[in-house]
Amino acid sequence: MDIKAHIRGIPDFPKPGILFYDISTLLRHGPAWRAAMARLARAIRPHKPDLLAGIESRGFLVAAPLALELGLGFIMLRKPRKLPGLTIGLNYALEYGTDRIEMQADAVQKGQRVILLDDLLATGGTMAAGISLLRQAGAVVPCAAALIELTFLGGRNRIDVPFESLVAYDE
Ligand code: PRP
Ligand code: MG
Repeated sequence: MDIKAHIRGIPDFPKPGILFYDISTLLRHGPAWRAAMARLARAIRPHKPDLLAGIESRGFLVAAPLALELGLGFIMLRKPRKLPGLTIGLNYALEYGTDRIEMQADAVQKGQRVILLDDLLATGGTMAAGISLLRQAGAVVPCAAALIELTFLGGRNRIDVPFESLVAYDE
């Protein structure tokens, strides 16, 4: 199965000059989506996770089916003020401005191996923040993974764990 053939590039979205890699076409093709999840499952299984974590919102689309596939639970790293109960959070820098992610303070037990998932690694800022937050919660993060990696942005260099991706774009 050629996963890349099911991802389309849409020019000038969300603003002029940006080529947006759209996974909607992959999501709506059952066999391709299933093959993508099976391949990611194979890539992360050797890192022996106890739990998976997904980053709102497109990261949930990856973390939830992978958790089912691996027979594991998964936790949500969410945008601010979405989670009930005691939360911990981390602000991180974007190209313009800042963003914040939060998780429930009791989501992870100390020393649990949690693999962080997202749909796409661009600058790596989101993934790096997620890894820091999981560690703050007591997790060990043996690896991170995404469907798509924009290699020309060097995001991989901003994260300090092994990183797995299925599809790479160099422009
Ligand atoms: C996109 C993408 C990743 C992040 C990657 O999310 O889904 O989460 O940006 O960028 P980075 O590597 O430069 O940090 P977005 O904020 O667009 O939101 P969404 O997932 O809710 O659509
Ligand atoms: Mg996202």
